[in-house]
Amino acid sequence: MDVQPQGAGGGAEEKVTFTVLVTGANSGLGFAICCRLIDEFLFTRPQSQTLHLLFSTRDARKSEDTLRRLGKHLQKTLREANGRTMGISLLLEARVKLEGVLVDLLELRSVKALAEQLLRRGQRLDAVVWNAGIAGWKGLDWPKAIWHILTDLIHASTYPTYPIPIEGLVTKAQTEARDEPKLGQVFTANVFGHYLLTHWLSPLMDSETRVVWISSISALPETFSADDVQGLSAHMAYEGSKRLTDLLVLTSELPSTQPYVQNFLPATNHQPQAQASRPKMYVTHPGVVGTSIAGLPWLLELLMFAAFYIARWLGSPWHLVSAYKGAVSAVFAVIAHPSQLPELEQREGKGKWGSATGVYGDERVARTEVEGWGFCGRVGVVPTGSVTAGRYRGRKETTREVREGFEVEGRRVWGELEGLRGEWEGRLGAIKQEASVDV
Ligand SMILES: NC(=O)c1ccc[n+]([C@@H]2O[C@H](COP(=O)([O-])OP(=O)(O)OC[C@H]3O[C@@H](n4cnc5c(N)ncnc54)[C@H](OP(=O)(O)O)[C@@H]3O)[C@@H](O)[C@H]2O)c1
Repeated sequence: MDVQPQGAGGGAEEKVTFTVLVTGANSGLGFAICCRLIDEFLFTRPQSQTLHLLFSTRDARKSEDTLRRLGKHLQKTLREANGRTMGISLLLEARVKLEGVLVDLLELRSVKALAEQLLRRGQRLDAVVWNAGIAGWKGLDWPKAIWHILTDLIHASTYPTYPIPIEGLVTKAQTEARDEPKLGQVFTANVFGHYLLTHWLSPLMDSETRVVWISSISALPETFSADDVQGLSAHMAYEGSKRLTDLLVLTSELPSTQPYVQNFLPATNHQPQAQASRPKMYVTHPGVVGTSIAGLPWLLELLMFAAFYIARWLGSPWHLVSAYKGAVSAVFAVIAHPSQLPELEQREGKGKWGSATGVYGDERVARTEVEGWGFCGRVGVVPTGSVTAGRYRGRKETTREVREGFEVEGRRVWGELEGLRGEWEGRLGAIKQEASVDV
């Protein structure tokens, strides 16, 4: 799916500044999302629009380094544009504003501080990309990994079962209270920190704001239990946190979850609930890309890249390999024309938007099957632009009963997360919302 320029009806042409917040921007996919967003924004949006890119890192050193590298990327893009149209870079350069912000998602006070900083400023958010994340692995089961890669390369590198997770990982204490309950570390970095941030930043959002979550192709149902949303006793807490992401986002517009969603993302138009409009959440995944999330030494990282390329050449639709290519789906979710995303989901059903590829690395955005939801929440329906290859071998067909079960589980996890939000807001104290919002 190509990204079209925003046109009439998009409501974007009148906007002068388009503000996007991306978390975990200093490496891997997050950095690539920032680069790709700059490139696509400059060449698909009207010259009157400026991109204000707020990129988050965990400390000032990483922030400065990321700013320098993003600036370098912008200069490369400008040089290439000048090669095509002499002097165009002068116009384009003025259309990108880069700004670093700090947050550590494992420290809820830091999450709250970022929310307060942005609320004080009052600048409206057009999109947020919840990219930061951790795997929570301590290494790989090498004999198993080598055997699986040599005998079943595509499946084994798309749905790996050889990483060794650290089970029961929890965050450091968040407050001074002695009776503070545990918080699952992978859950907090990948889901809960972002979940709180979404709610706290909601005064800066309106019905056109897009909340983009990053999931994974490997978010299989058996890795998650609604009895343990934090994955405290899960064997595969990383994959489980991504299944939780799928459940939250894909059920977020169903009538059955609205009692929770209405509190989480208050309506922005002050209308009765039936006509209320609120920001929309989207779920994307980057396919399989080579980043440092697996924590491999450089030689093994080289072998990992080689294995990923071979998987792509053998026909895997999900081995994007490069993070820039993998960023295509998240950037699509941020800037696609309304007819290509919100209106399309309205017509054809909500989807999990994946980065897919052809043999030569020609990346595109494709609907991805989610067990229990299918491709669009409608049993047996496979909309155009869905990828049906490269699916999990042990997958179960999404029947009517399974689809109903997904919705029941979705409603349940919404209830759990809203309960946790209430508890933690109580412990952390009220958020300061002093500013008025610039629209
Ligand atoms: N690589 C893949 O094939 C793949 C596949 C599916 C989904 N994903 C998803 O893509 C996203 C990015 O992963 P990646 O592969 O690009 O890995 P990565 O290179 O390790 O990047 C992870 C980013 O998250 C940040 N981060 C980690 N813990 C954080 C915390 N507590 N607070 C704030 N930021 C934190 C990291 O910052 P530091 O450098 O400071 O740690 C880094 O910027 C993740 O959500 C991951 O699940 C990746």
